[in-house]
Amino acid sequence: MPAHDVLILGACLAGQRAALAAADAGATVAILSKVHPVRSHSVAAAGGINAAINPADDWRSHAFDTVKGSDFLGDQDAIEVMCAEAPDEVLHLEHIGVTFHRNETGQMDLRAFGGASMKRTAYVADITGQAILHVLYEQLMKYHERVDRYEEWFTTSLLQDEEGNCTGCIARDIRTGQLEVFTAKNVILATGGAGQCFKPTTNGLICTGDGISMAYRIGAPLMDMEMIQYHPTTLVENGFLITEGARGEGAHLLNADGERFMEKYAPNKMELASRDVVSRAEQTEINEGRGVGPGGVGIYLDITVVPKKRTLEALREIVNIGKDFAGVDITKEPILIRPGQHYIMGGVKTDVNGATPIPGLYAAGEVACVSVHGGNRLGANSLLDTLIFGRRAGEHAAQRAAGISMPEATPLSRVREESAWIDSIIDRPKDGRRVSEIKDDLGTEMNRNVAVFREQDGLTHALETVRRLKEEAKTAYIDDRGTVFNQDVLGAIELGFMLDCAECTVMAALERKESRGAQYRTDFPERNDDEWLKHIDVSRNGDDTPHLSYSPVTITQWQPEERKY
Ligand code: FUM
Repeated sequence: MPAHDVLILGACLAGQRAALAAADAGATVAILSKVHPVRSHSVAAAGGINAAINPADDWRSHAFDTVKGSDFLGDQDAIEVMCAEAPDEVLHLEHIGVTFHRNETGQMDLRAFGGASMKRTAYVADITGQAILHVLYEQLMKYHERVDRYEEWFTTSLLQDEEGNCTGCIARDIRTGQLEVFTAKNVILATGGAGQCFKPTTNGLICTGDGISMAYRIGAPLMDMEMIQYHPTTLVENGFLITEGARGEGAHLLNADGERFMEKYAPNKMELASRDVVSRAEQTEINEGRGVGPGGVGIYLDITVVPKKRTLEALREIVNIGKDFAGVDITKEPILIRPGQHYIMGGVKTDVNGATPIPGLYAAGEVACVSVHGGNRLGANSLLDTLIFGRRAGEHAAQRAAGISMPEATPLSRVREESAWIDSIIDRPKDGRRVSEIKDDLGTEMNRNVAVFREQDGLTHALETVRRLKEEAKTAYIDDRGTVFNQDVLGAIELGFMLDCAECTVMAALERKESRGAQYRTDFPERNDDEWLKHIDVSRNGDDTPHLSYSPVTITQWQPEERKY
């Protein structure tokens, strides 16, 4: 394999944006992904992308809303960078062909989204991620002489030299089973989140925490791992996302008494309070017996109050999802939803250029924690995060590459070691448990005890379960013994990645003895700035146990205050 200045793992929006930026800065670039790029999970981002492009708006207002949404755990220097650069990034997208919705006057239209003090979300119906992803992929194809694409390659490990620099990765060609070394001066992780640790989740099957775990395994610290976002509107049947855009367009949340209960929890913002607040309100209604549907485990999302023409134009994807997956025509009747796992705010700790403390290792997008989301991400800030920090990581890595020489080739013995490890998984006798069973147990446990409400006993049970599953995973068996498209063996490797992520999440959630953002501890129901206005970092430090430490939250202009919506 040719060596590259910048090797990007993952071809989601962050990865593709990083590739284009690095190539523009003159670097030789490769982008490698375990699925075809347009199947990356960014394709599922529905409702839009935030930017203060209305002349009456100001990026500082966007930044303050983001800081408040984060429950003051977000680093304000990073939030300022993201919000200040947002308008130019969105206009750039439009210039390269993203067909953002326009209003009657021909201006880019903006919709309301949760936690925002004004309409600030640019959108393409409710397929915004898909629209941007396809346009960026077109650009990548245009760059075919400057960016090498490796589609359907699965990264198994990151490589490091003796000084600790990240020097590339080992990856398996999914089509053939062949292992190859990819040597690079810099690696940018753009591998997405770890939602598959939970069941159900809005996340695609590919969101298995690969980059988070691989970075952690070579010593990169993780941060804010306890902060797991439950989206307020996911289908009760299967956890599918029903976009926040629906509430942005005016949809109501109703309990069993037909009451718009958000009035009790967030009288000013109602259904458009931040996601942690709305999800907790729904779960409280359900827990107190005012849920709807079979077993009272849901809430009604009433989209019939939105004019039908507008629903068919601006929310057409959820019209289809409602029909196909719940048998509901959302223009005629309410649909049953509940809070469901959607996003992880934590990830690999980076600076505002995507750099991690490991030289040559960068991260951007959901795999990373800059931290612009802190305790709770605002809807439509994730597409923005992927693009701003993907671009910055690409530019910075290209700049770094210009000043260093190409690392030496990795010894063949390292590849043989990796190959032997993968063969040992394939050859396991069928006397352990199935990989898929362990994954199911993990998802169920995390969704039971590491969800909207948490407390010591439940979290302790979750930690014990994750550690037991980690042991069981060592002997878990698969059926496919072949080399061509052996998704079974990749599933076993992914299970290991997920278990690492889950262990770090649960340990950090046990450690944080307060309630902030998405971490609501029923045994510590107050936010406690005196003791907990700090990040929890998790590192592996050579053994297989997470070690916890703290790092300060960067505050620039907004002092913590009580959060009210
Ligand atoms: O509800 C949504 O459309 C999701 C958007 C997001 O997570 O940013």
